[in-house]
Amino acid sequence: MVSGGGCIDDDIVTVLWTAEQLSDKVAEMASQITQDFDDSSDSPVIVGVATGAFMFMADLVRKVKLPVTVDFVRAESYASGTVSSGSPKISCDVKLDVSGKHVILVEDIVDTGNTVARLVSYLEGKGSTSVSVCTLLDKPARREVNLKLLGDGKFYSGFQCPDSFVVGYGLDFNEQYRNLPYIGVLKPEIYK
Ligand code: IMP
Ligand code: MG
Repeated sequence: MVSGGGCIDDDIVTVLWTAEQLSDKVAEMASQITQDFDDSSDSPVIVGVATGAFMFMADLVRKVKLPVTVDFVRAESYASGTVSSGSPKISCDVKLDVSGKHVILVEDIVDTGNTVARLVSYLEGKGSTSVSVCTLLDKPARREVNLKLLGDGKFYSGFQCPDSFVVGYGLDFNEQYRNLPYIGVLKPEIYK
């Protein structure tokens, strides 16, 4: 059970990345993106995957020193709980026209890879020129698909995540814990 009240920090076993470490990493990633897209004639569309990427996205775009447009897409892979369903559905589309655009998909975490793979092919179908993926966390231990990007899209990854269920800085368990300013491992007794 998710705690009904009290301090959400008490449900964390280990802090993996502090707010300061996250901030430094986001700055590093934003500066790489700025450098990579600096001579692109068309400004990239930065598309966050809601809801998990909202905090990372907000911090990242503020540090990208380029003209960009910003949008969100929603993909559902979990009914609830901690195991991905394997066939994510796009339940909220992008509003901007992404055809002929360089898209940077912003994710909180790439786990099995199903969500990102689905979104890349979806954006390909909409005629995007390239699709890059910018994920704060990468959990390669659980990868099920070989990620293919589109065009000369790049893969940006912040931290390699151990094979544990993590929450905070946008990442949730049953919609809780997103507001923690750091990322930590959730106590297994919370979801077992
Ligand atoms: P994938 O489709 O398996 O790669 O899963 C991607 C989505 O699952 C992410 O966007 C997250 O929302 C969620 N997810 C995967 N691992 C975790 C985790 O450890 N904590 C919280 N959410 C996770
Ligand atoms: Mg997500």
